[in-house]
Amino acid sequence: MKPFHYKAGVLHADAIPLNVIADTVGTPAYVYSATALRAAARRFYAALAEVPRKQIAFAVKANPNRALLHLLANEGYGGDIVSGGELVAALDAGMAAETIIYSGTGKTRAELAAALGAGIGQFNIELEAEGQLLASLAIERRLRAPATLRINPDIDARTHAKITTGRAASKFGVPVTEAIDIYDRLAALPGLDLRGIAVHIGSQIVDLVPLEAAYERVGELLSALRSRGHVVTHVDLGGGLGVSYRSGEPGADIEAYGAMVERVTRDWNVTLQFEPGRLIVAEAGVLLTRVTWIKPGAEHPFVIVDAAMNDLMRPALYDAWHDFAVVRPTGIRTIANIVGPVCETGDTFAQAREIDQVEGGDLAVLHTAGAYGATMASTYNCRALPAEVLVDEDQVAVIAERVEASAINRQRFAPWQRPGDAVGSHMEAQPGIA
Ligand code: LLP
Repeated sequence: MKPFHYKAGVLHADAIPLNVIADTVGTPAYVYSATALRAAARRFYAALAEVPRKQIAFAVKANPNRALLHLLANEGYGGDIVSGGELVAALDAGMAAETIIYSGTGKTRAELAAALGAGIGQFNIELEAEGQLLASLAIERRLRAPATLRINPDIDARTHAKITTGRAASKFGVPVTEAIDIYDRLAALPGLDLRGIAVHIGSQIVDLVPLEAAYERVGELLSALRSRGHVVTHVDLGGGLGVSYRSGEPGADIEAYGAMVERVTRDWNVTLQFEPGRLIVAEAGVLLTRVTWIKPGAEHPFVIVDAAMNDLMRPALYDAWHDFAVVRPTGIRTIANIVGPVCETGDTFAQAREIDQVEGGDLAVLHTAGAYGATMASTYNCRALPAEVLVDEDQVAVIAERVEASAINRQRFAPWQRPGDAVGSHMEAQPGIA
């Protein structure tokens, strides 16, 4: 059974009709299918069946909801984190510390210390100074920090420019040309257990050729490091595999990826690590929304929905396509622009899109929204953060409450203001900042 499918003319998540969720939880809301999440997690494991030693760390940034992380931990996944906040999310979710890998360009002293204290499994070092700091923090704690050096292979992943990370001009990793010298120096530090290399060239990669080219470069570096006497036991191949956002367009061929990895790395004799994010969670989620108005337009009518760019930023940020599907389709097709209520023209989910005809009050979804959806939401326009709902067969639960912007309650009047003048305000003046 497909996780999101029509039954008696109504779109369901597993066994639950989406209109039931909309009526009880409200919209906009992200709805995730546990069935789909488990299936994707298992499919990736199965694709790597021929890889003898491996660790898979879900890229928490794609979706840090603890309920989903917990489910993935039960599927044998660790977490790939990029901040102190994601460290807390992964640990709270029940991911074992030793299954956590810390990637990311700007780790602070406090974040490194917290991760060391938690006893995480590996640090992927992005620059030499970070490695030196990590080594000194480890020595202070009488530890040796397990680490790899992330290299920048200077390979174009052939994906969207904003999510390309492996070109020489990008901020990620150390240049492959300098990697040996930096590795020699970091490996000599007693606070580090430098044990390998990491690479990640971008996201939403469908073409396996650039990935293979990057891995070949890693293989060359591996041989060069070993011939200099380094003991290399781990290689982190990153994430980046793309999914199909538009029906009819292919995602990455996961089984071909597994076969390519096995072929390229056959003689490496290391533990391979993977950091998939989107691949695991994108298709397991939809953004459920209700049509507010239909407004005539110059060329096509505007379908104004109650979700907006603050809930799902990908179309506004990357011109990303998300399939739009009506919860109770009429079968009458029409062409419309699908937009949110935010005051920007960029608040557009689709332009001149062929859809089933809808009217105010109807429900619809934006598909493939499980990755980089809820996590990138904001309260722009003082809008609420969307609710998140998990469905598992016939069970359903809210796994993140909708939070009204006013409920976040972090703003204060400056002490020299007179809040009493602001009629109806709930804010109080802060005592002066000492
Ligand atoms: N590992 C590292 C070091 C990363 O930087 C990323 C993603 C991943 C793993 C996971 O990549 P994935 O398997 O999900 O492609 N907000 C963008 C995507 C940003 C990806 C950033 N790094 C989007 O919505 O398309």
